[in-house]
Amino acid sequence: MYRFTPPIFLLLLLLITLSTVLLTASQSTHQDDQVREEEEEEDTPITRFQQYLRINTAHPTPDYASAVSYLTSQAHSIGLTARTLHLTPSKPLLLLTWAGTQPSLPSSLLLNSHLDSVPAEPSKWSHPPFSASLTPDGRIHARGAQDDKSISMQYLEAIRTLRKTTLPNPIRTVHISYVPDEEIGGADGWGRFVESEAFDELRVGFVLDEGQASVGDQLRVFYADRCPWWVILRAVGAPGHGSRMYDGSAVENLMRSVEVVGKFREAQFDAVKAGLAAPSEVVSVNPVYFKAGIQSGEGFVMNMQPSEAEAGFDVRLPPTADPDLLKRRILEEWAPAHWNLTCTISERGPIRDFKGRPIMTATNDSNPWWSVFSNAIVAAGGKLAKPEILASTTDARFLRQRGIPTLGFSPMTNTPILLHDHNEFLKDTVYLRGIEIYEHIISALSSFKGSST
Ligand SMILES: *[C@@H]1O[C@H](CO)[C@@H](O)[C@H](O)[C@H]1NC(C)=O
Ligand SMILES: *[C@@H]1O[C@H](CO)[C@@H](O)[C@H](O)[C@H]1NC(C)=O
Ligand SMILES: [Zn+2]
Repeated sequence: MYRFTPPIFLLLLLLITLSTVLLTASQSTHQDDQVREEEEEEDTPITRFQQYLRINTAHPTPDYASAVSYLTSQAHSIGLTARTLHLTPSKPLLLLTWAGTQPSLPSSLLLNSHLDSVPAEPSKWSHPPFSASLTPDGRIHARGAQDDKSISMQYLEAIRTLRKTTLPNPIRTVHISYVPDEEIGGADGWGRFVESEAFDELRVGFVLDEGQASVGDQLRVFYADRCPWWVILRAVGAPGHGSRMYDGSAVENLMRSVEVVGKFREAQFDAVKAGLAAPSEVVSVNPVYFKAGIQSGEGFVMNMQPSEAEAGFDVRLPPTADPDLLKRRILEEWAPAHWNLTCTISERGPIRDFKGRPIMTATNDSNPWWSVFSNAIVAAGGKLAKPEILASTTDARFLRQRGIPTLGFSPMTNTPILLHDHNEFLKDTVYLRGIEIYEHIISALSSFKGSST
């Protein structure tokens, strides 16, 4: 009987064929991966945003040069003119211009954002803070994703779209500024810019600056910042033995004063807790340090009452507060001389504008820009929340101090507020929606002919 015994070479052939099939299969999955990677590198609004987020402009060593170079190339790709000012060496300020068709209009629109960001502690992040990783749920993780590289790029993306569609050129000139050092007080950024001839030449009539995310579906808008005061109370008193009770020791004097400050703080906070005021509408007071005692090695001398004691408070004033009245209260009630108290108040910014008015932008019909802005939000299908005072401070104060109407606005709805926090992120859909909203706003504001300012 003939029995088929497959020759060894046939078996080998089979093996080779099989392994080739398997290899080809694995190669083709590999190719799919490459295709996916190439898709990720495609030039889209999201990849452009990611590229910008990957430039590390965190303090203390922000890479301003790379950020300016990237933004300049983006600006050129959509036909904007760009120039870099060096008001402080090594701290460039980028200024883009989209020229209007009616140069006779008395003022321009300025869209502002800052180049820098606060530092990040990578070990506390789920994704590296300068990776701009896009996770399957659409989150783009990066330091600066909310504060405020989103608006930096959204301004450009909105203009990119407008130029291709409904608005090849605006009526009113639009400037975009990218400034250094906002996160460290802005002295070398807007502080210098606002004093410069270059700024005067822009003839800015209205400004949009950064705002904050909204956890709900209403867009938030800010018409004022609060002004920080650093208040230091110093008490002196008779030194003495730790065993003896007597009146007029320094720490006792300070404790009495701190109690008064505590009552003031409580009254302000009660108004917030009762829903009578927003947290940013009251004068906030927070103790930040207490200093007393005679040091001995790692600890303190325990049987001596010191002759000096000091406490520091972070106080924040809304523009509605009366600074003269508050100063009087601090001197008379927190630091009375008959308790051996003195105080220094360091005002960390102006509280009144150049005409002596509270530093805020009107959000009613008295400000024609407000109507154009708020109507544009409605036209974009957005819902605007009641205008707010920002709890902290931004560069907007430099402009408002000049009497230039300025609104803080970052179109991020249904987003947790993560500025300066670990794991800062922004969802791709929220980012893209923000671009659409800016298309409406920029289109309306740059077409607005009505204001005399
Ligand atoms: C004020 O300080 C001086 C010492 O500097 C002390 O003799 C006096 O008792 C203190 N008075 C009060 C009211 O604390
Ligand atoms: C508009 O708001 C400003 C500032 O908040 C206020 O002083 C002014 O009275 C308001 N004007 C009108 C017309 O409501
Ligand atoms: Zn910011």
